[in-house]
Amino acid sequence: MADAKREQLKVQEQKAILVAVLETGSRIDKDTALDELHGLVKSAGAEVVGELVQKTNQPSGATLLGKGKVEDLKQLIEATGATVVIFDNNLSPSQGRNLEEELNSVIVDRSEVILDIFARRAQTYEARLQVELAQLLYYRPRLKRMWTHLERIEGGVGAGRGPGEKQIETDRRLIDQRVSELKAKLKEVSNRRERIVATRDDQPTVSLVGYTNAGKSTLMRTLTGADVYVADQLFATLDTRTKRWHVPHWGEVLLSDTVGFVRDLPHHLVASFKSTLEEARQASLLLHVVDASHPEAERQIDTVHQVLEEIGVDRTNMLLVLNKVDAVADRSAVDVLRVKHLDCVCVSALERSGLDKLESAIIARLGDGIVIAEVVTSVANGKLFAFLSQCADVTDRVYDELNRVRITCRIDRRYLGKLRAEGQVVTLKDTFGRDIVSSDDEA
Ligand code: GTP
Repeated sequence: MADAKREQLKVQEQKAILVAVLETGSRIDKDTALDELHGLVKSAGAEVVGELVQKTNQPSGATLLGKGKVEDLKQLIEATGATVVIFDNNLSPSQGRNLEEELNSVIVDRSEVILDIFARRAQTYEARLQVELAQLLYYRPRLKRMWTHLERIEGGVGAGRGPGEKQIETDRRLIDQRVSELKAKLKEVSNRRERIVATRDDQPTVSLVGYTNAGKSTLMRTLTGADVYVADQLFATLDTRTKRWHVPHWGEVLLSDTVGFVRDLPHHLVASFKSTLEEARQASLLLHVVDASHPEAERQIDTVHQVLEEIGVDRTNMLLVLNKVDAVADRSAVDVLRVKHLDCVCVSALERSGLDKLESAIIARLGDGIVIAEVVTSVANGKLFAFLSQCADVTDRVYDELNRVRITCRIDRRYLGKLRAEGQVVTLKDTFGRDIVSSDDEA
């Protein structure tokens, strides 16, 4: 299907009814079931004119909603003049088609809304390729419905009848062609990225991951002073950005901000964004940022764990950061989180509180490789000073009458090779002050 036509499927500026079908036993509360979809739809630019939630122990295979609820929905559409019905659930291609026929309205599911937001937020070449690929893979099995969408939106003669099989076959071939092209282009970008990430092998990297809107970009800005985009909207950040961050009393790390996660992320989208999340996969430490003031914080933590698992990220070296503690109305909710996640740190990225504790916790996690070195060099050794300012935390400098300086610094073992190449290392101790005799694991 041509790009121009797909453009018209966007939910922007539509009058929307939101629908959720909850299976009995679901952890989602009926009263708040549509809160997140509200946020997503707002981000996508639509106006919400009605809501409907059904709790059922057996969702209908054909229409997801039960028969009576489909009737209620029909009346709601008429009463509100809604132009689109948005489901919080993901619909199978046939459920979407059946609902459109029954309701004579455009039906959009959760995946489509998320794809729509991603499509509008994608800024970089890579993000655009990734989103287009995810959209095409999503639409491919739903071509018949997509055409019906368009006819309804355009109000053409025979609206709702859909295209012939021949047209769909042609579209499918075009999609397959484009999918191959996109995959090839993404492979190129991803190879380039892997090369870049691999060259950082000798520099510790810390990646911020977390649910959308948890405050990752705010924390990145607070820690590094970087001018990153912060907004009270879902998926403000789609691309991974990396900044240098000098961890006080430790040294320099590369800090990356990554795309936010959300419940039921479309599978194709997760797969497409794997390369963007390469940083997280290779990070020395993951900071999992949580909005502690959110009533669903615990469920958001679970979602992030699930997505990380799906993209193959090792969670063993992860630190949980409970953010937005300034906005928590009920302290006992944070206490519950703290009891469950004993190793967590509480911060407010916005009010810059708890940062000392966060830095200490990060140092403790990264610290295994840290040694204390004394190095002697000429006061004119600019190369060594530049290297130290990048890769070490200098704690002392003593000058002598021979124009030499004895520098004490905390440095990662991996940099010892470079340190020796630039100056004369005279003593080496671990962080408890014990002499290190062998240095066989250095670079
Ligand atoms: P995505 O890009 O969607 O993944 O979001 P993000 O996790 O990067 O969140 P972002 O930093 O954009 O912050 C989202 C909203 O939360 C913004 O309105 C921030 O001002 C707000 N916020 C972030 N940290 C804090 C905090 O410590 N306290 C309070 N009260 N608000 C915060």
